[in-house]
Amino acid sequence: MTQARSKSLTERPEWKALVDHQGAMANTHMRDLFQEDPERFKRYFVEASGLALDYSKNLVVDETIERLMALARSCGLPERIEAMFRGEKVNVSENRPALHTALRNMNDEPVMVDGKDIMPEVRDTLARMEEFVWRIRSTQWRGFTNKPFTDVVSIGIGGSFLGPKLVSASLKPYWHGRLNCHYVANIDGSHITEVLRHINPETTLFLIQSKSFKTQETLENTKVAREWFLHNGGSEERISKHFVGVTANKPEAVKFGIAEENIFPMWDWVGGRYSLWSAIGLPTALTIGMDNFRALLSGAQAMDKHFRSAPLEQNLPVIMALLGVWYGNFWGADAHAILPYDHYLRGLPAHLQQVDMESNGKCVTQHGDPVAYQTGPIIWGGAGANGQHAYHQLLHQGTKLSPADFIIPLHTHNPVGNHHAILFANCLSQTQALMQGKTEAEARAELADQGLSAEAVETLARHKVIPGNKPSNTLFFERATPRTVGALIALYEHKTYAQGVIWDVDSFDQWGVELGKQLGKDILDRLLDGERKSETTDSSTEGLIRIFRNRHMNGL
Ligand code: F6P
Repeated sequence: MTQARSKSLTERPEWKALVDHQGAMANTHMRDLFQEDPERFKRYFVEASGLALDYSKNLVVDETIERLMALARSCGLPERIEAMFRGEKVNVSENRPALHTALRNMNDEPVMVDGKDIMPEVRDTLARMEEFVWRIRSTQWRGFTNKPFTDVVSIGIGGSFLGPKLVSASLKPYWHGRLNCHYVANIDGSHITEVLRHINPETTLFLIQSKSFKTQETLENTKVAREWFLHNGGSEERISKHFVGVTANKPEAVKFGIAEENIFPMWDWVGGRYSLWSAIGLPTALTIGMDNFRALLSGAQAMDKHFRSAPLEQNLPVIMALLGVWYGNFWGADAHAILPYDHYLRGLPAHLQQVDMESNGKCVTQHGDPVAYQTGPIIWGGAGANGQHAYHQLLHQGTKLSPADFIIPLHTHNPVGNHHAILFANCLSQTQALMQGKTEAEARAELADQGLSAEAVETLARHKVIPGNKPSNTLFFERATPRTVGALIALYEHKTYAQGVIWDVDSFDQWGVELGKQLGKDILDRLLDGERKSETTDSSTEGLIRIFRNRHMNGL
């Protein structure tokens, strides 16, 4: 564990300097900043690992960046970055390192955990994945009627679902023609039912993905898949041809009926939400192939190297992290939008919700003291340009401040007509509109030009004013390739960690989600057998249990 900080965050001179600076900046408009400095775009632009960030449309001047960097240094950010890579136990409440970076460490460099180099195991697992992927894709490994597999169903939830699903979808142009990939996560029976409806047991491979192998949703869905398989031509002996597991809890997986030789390992030093780079990435590797999976890892590794070695002022994840701190702690922003202008990347907000909100949604420091400041933001978003015709209204004229990341490739995988230029224009016009807004004088002039009466101009002008001054980042890259997607996801992982360091929270535990799981067990018992085993204290939960039992259990 790192030493408790001698001064709490808000007591630091660097923090106070930022409070003062925000006061001085409070009436600054970005329009003016752009007018005053024609070099602003160049000044606030950084590139790394195939990604480029224009952060000029932010409420920052050089002094802001200097003061934010001073805060980061005073929080020991460079040392804490190094500590994570070196395998120190940065997950303090679980007394573990967080070594997702070791999963994409393609060098020979050892990474030590409790005196043991973990790299041989990482490399062995990659080699096993390689062989497995090759056997499935080359049709060496076939289903029980000797037909090649056509469908892969991944059963898992949280980090054992969102990351692989995002990568699979992001890299659809690289999919193997014959293999289709489906994901089942939810305990809502409709999810698995809909997937099973469209597949053939003879040609379907199930991947059971669970670090703990204790997650209720995953185990229940696996039981359904197993029963479905057994009732549709499968048999106990045939299970081993069709069910493969990825877990850190091999004994549980074996107990559950997965053949020992079909189990790929996971490790407690990889957090669920950081696990897509491990064998949890198998559904992705099966569809995009192992070469592309390795390219994904190497893109992430390039970002790792950058995060570890670039000076803070040139460090992409650090800059993005500090901009988030600037708005969340000094400007009152509660939310942050992720807006991918790329159809294949539309799952990015959902994955980053878990990465960021499960990591930094914390109210005590890593030493257990209550925090006296805001921590992780609400992450939300969706695909551009769709969002422009829905929730962007709030970004432009709402009362809430939500900085936004606009993410776009320069080239599309599907050049159709002028679509990509139009998409790009939409992306740029949004960030421009957010930044410059529309003044009342401009609104009036526009309305007058349309020939409206003075009275109509008077009424409408105030509605048409757009305050502007809303911060955004524009993050772009050549094309959504395995390398760039790897770098992009790693960028956000590191941004999240860097913010966690500033806020002094443990970004790698998730105790909050446990309470719901605990209470869920009691409630399920009550729903199923009605007997009141524990004191349920609130009348709302009691009333709802009664209604469910009366109506659902009685088939009403
Ligand atoms: O409940 C939260 C969580 O523990 C996540 O952190 C994790 O990614 C998910 O559940 C799934 O866990 P597992 O891979 O152990 O099934």
